[in-house]
Amino acid sequence: MEILIRDTPEEGAQVAAKLFKKILSTRPQPVIGLATGGTPLRLYRELIRMHQSGELSFKDCTSFNLDEYVGLPPEDERSYHHYMRSNLFDQVDIDPSRIHLPDGCAGDLRQACRDYEKKIKEFGGIDLQVLGIGANGHIGFNEPTGSFASRTWVKILSEQTIKDNAIYFDDPEEVPRHVVTMGIATVMETRHCLLLANGAKKADAVRRMIEGPVSASCPASILQMHKRVTIVLDEEAAYLLTFKDHYKWVEGNKLDWQKYD
Ligand code: F6R
Repeated sequence: MEILIRDTPEEGAQVAAKLFKKILSTRPQPVIGLATGGTPLRLYRELIRMHQSGELSFKDCTSFNLDEYVGLPPEDERSYHHYMRSNLFDQVDIDPSRIHLPDGCAGDLRQACRDYEKKIKEFGGIDLQVLGIGANGHIGFNEPTGSFASRTWVKILSEQTIKDNAIYFDDPEEVPRHVVTMGIATVMETRHCLLLANGAKKADAVRRMIEGPVSASCPASILQMHKRVTIVLDEEAAYLLTFKDHYKWVEGNKLDWQKYD
C-alpha cells in the first residue's frame, strides 16, 4: 500500500488529482471508477479546476460509479446520479454516453447488477477506482462481514451508515435501506485504487484498514491484498497509525518517477 499523509484535506485532494491526471494521461481510453459522499468533493473540485485550465480532459474517459440507492430515481437530488452530475460530470467534457451508474430503480435489480458487471468487463476493467471509507470500514456499500467474493449486488445498509448518511436527507427515516453497490471482488479487480480519508472520525477505520488483520469485519482491510493501492490521508485520519513515521519516510525517499507532485 502506498500511504500519502498530508496536513490538510485540501493538500490531499491536490496530490490525488495529480495521480488521477497521471493515470488519465497514460491511457488512450481510461476507465475510471468513481465514489460519492463528502470525501471526494475536494478531489472533484480540483479535477474541474484542472479541466477548466486545460490541464485535463475527460473526453476519452469511461466512468463507472460504485453505488446508488435503491428506489431513488436519477433526478432525485439525493441520488448519486444527481450528485455526480452536479459535482463533476456537468462541469467537465465527459461524453454522457460513457457515464455508468448502477440503476437503483431497475425493474429487475438482480439482472441490472449482472449487466453492470458485464459492462465493466466489456470496457476492459477499471484503470483507477476512487474510494472513500465508512467509519465502520466499508468500501462501496460493502458493510462489515460481507463476503470478500461479492460482486455488484443489492446490499442492506448498516444502521451506522444510515445514521451517517442521514445528513443528506430531511428525515433519517427517508434514507433508503438498500443500495446497489459494486462488490468487494469487483473493486479488487480494478488496476489501481485511490482511497481518500479525512478527519478523526475515520481514524479507527483507517488504522484497521492499513495495519489491522485482513478481516471481513473491516471490509477495507482487503485492500492490503490489492496489487496497487494509494491511500491519501489528512493528519487527523492518520493519527492512530503505528507506522505513520515510516510511511512519511518512504514517501520522502521516493524516486522522481514514483512521485505525483
Ligand atoms: C460512496 C461510497 C461510500 C463512501 C463512504 C464514505 O459512493 O461508496 O463507501 O465513500 O461511505 O462517505 P463520506 O465520504 O461521505 O464520509
